[in-house]
Amino acid sequence: MTTTESTETTPSTTETPGQTSSLPESTWNHHHLLDLDDCSRTEIETVLTLADRMREILDRRIPRVPALRGFTVVNLFYEPSTRTRASFELAGKVLGADVISVNSSTSSIQKGESLIDTVRTMRAMRTDAIVIRHAMAGAPYLAAEHTDASIINAGDGAHAHPTQALLDLYTMRRHVGDLTGKKVVMVGDIAHSRVARSDLWGLAAMGAKVVVCGPPTLLPLGLRAQDRPSHAESALPPVSIETNIDVALEDADVVIALRLQSERQEAGLLPSLHEYAANYQVTAERLVRAKPDHLLMHPGPKNEGIEIAGDVAKGDRSIIEEQVTNGVAVRMALLYLLSGRVDSSEVIAEARA
Ligand code: NCD
Repeated sequence: MTTTESTETTPSTTETPGQTSSLPESTWNHHHLLDLDDCSRTEIETVLTLADRMREILDRRIPRVPALRGFTVVNLFYEPSTRTRASFELAGKVLGADVISVNSSTSSIQKGESLIDTVRTMRAMRTDAIVIRHAMAGAPYLAAEHTDASIINAGDGAHAHPTQALLDLYTMRRHVGDLTGKKVVMVGDIAHSRVARSDLWGLAAMGAKVVVCGPPTLLPLGLRAQDRPSHAESALPPVSIETNIDVALEDADVVIALRLQSERQEAGLLPSLHEYAANYQVTAERLVRAKPDHLLMHPGPKNEGIEIAGDVAKGDRSIIEEQVTNGVAVRMALLYLLSGRVDSSEVIAEARA
């Protein structure tokens, strides 16, 4: 890359190396990203608007800018991942950050080092952001209590996966614009899905109407407002629940199929995969009930032939591959916001201009 190219490819935002975050509360006010339950609509819009600029960078002939030069990101994945880990790695690299991926099976984690020790060790190396995926719900929250590096939750147990939700919102917004009043139907294993939980918070903040659909054994108890104990009122935002997929899909703007998570399932929740597929697989015949211009999404990895039919997954309403591309742009936006090198009020002012 020539010097001229590197100058013109810097995102057009205020950028002072080493500047600490002093962002207005209403646009972006987080040092960590642990879930979307405490993110306002304006904060989410800040990420999505910045992601638009990042998409432009990704689509350039040479997708590299020096915006995060000198910023260090460590990927700490205690669970398998393909797209999320690669996506964070690429997002950091496109912006000129140094990105290191620690593999839990070949690191001191195997020697019994605790999460807290590992996180403190990373910070001792002057790491700026640590991306954590862990089988235990709450692990990134614990890490955030023990470091001043920015912690990004890349999936904790069945609890939350906020960057997947942000990329889902971004991808929907690119196609349908304002999500207010749009009908979004999530089909599948809602009970074990951290994606569904974070999507619910994000979609609620953006004003979408959400319907979750699956067999009763895979729907989290207490999801309906009337079933919630009074002390748990804010456990999840309000949604409609439908166990009949044909009813759920009626007039849907967006359909999100979710993977059946065998690694999190306790025995006995499903009679058989065959029966699940017969009753809940997202198929072309069933999608006829959705709006003709509906969007079909899936966070991946997919089990084609179980929760989604192969032909619709690759069909003309599917935006599953675009979700993956957008995941890089959204993670670029997030890393840039967490670095404190961008003035988020400018981002949102530009969006509203
Ligand atoms: C999801 C995850 O790991 O939570 N995948 C992803 O990050 N794209 C969904 C899943 O595993 O089914």
